[in-house]
Amino acid sequence: MIRAVVDRFYANAREDELVGPVFKAAVPDQRWQAHLDTIVDFWSSVLLGTRRYDGRPLRKHLMLPELQDVQFRRWLALFRQTVEEVCPPDLAAFWVDRSERIGNSFRISVRMHNGDDVTGLRPLEREVLP
Ligand code: HEM
Repeated sequence: MIRAVVDRFYANAREDELVGPVFKAAVPDQRWQAHLDTIVDFWSSVLLGTRRYDGRPLRKHLMLPELQDVQFRRWLALFRQTVEEVCPPDLAAFWVDRSERIGNSFRISVRMHNGDDVTGLRPLEREVLP
């Protein structure tokens, strides 16, 4: 199920006008499959506690200057849509919650890294996709 969500989500994300260009610039086609495998390991660790992933994901995102709130919101909306299409509702709710917690924490770190004042920053509002 993790593999199905990851494949479907990134196929959509790569074609999205806001987040697609970030992926296309940062991950060349020949590294794309390896990237997907890393993401599957990441979610396997987060959701199932398998420890298959032991990287430092935040660091990669601090190196992406084009990451702003609009990209994070879109990423999370696309992810939520994919998870809700593929998974039963209780599992989908759990997975979406995890993605939003991690996404908000990356976003705050990125904003701090860029020198923004994050005092009083509220969690990202959900974007409703058409
Ligand atoms: C606007 C939102 C996001 C964009 C555009 C984005 C983009 C990227 C890019 C370009 C990479 C580097 C891939 C590489 O160099 O191989 C990456 C790595 C990664 N991202 Fe994201 N990301 C976003 C949000 C998230 C979120 C919310 C999560 C988790 C919930 C996440 C999890 C990861 C992981 C686990 C890696 C692999 C790091 C590693 O190589 O160890 N990303 N992301």
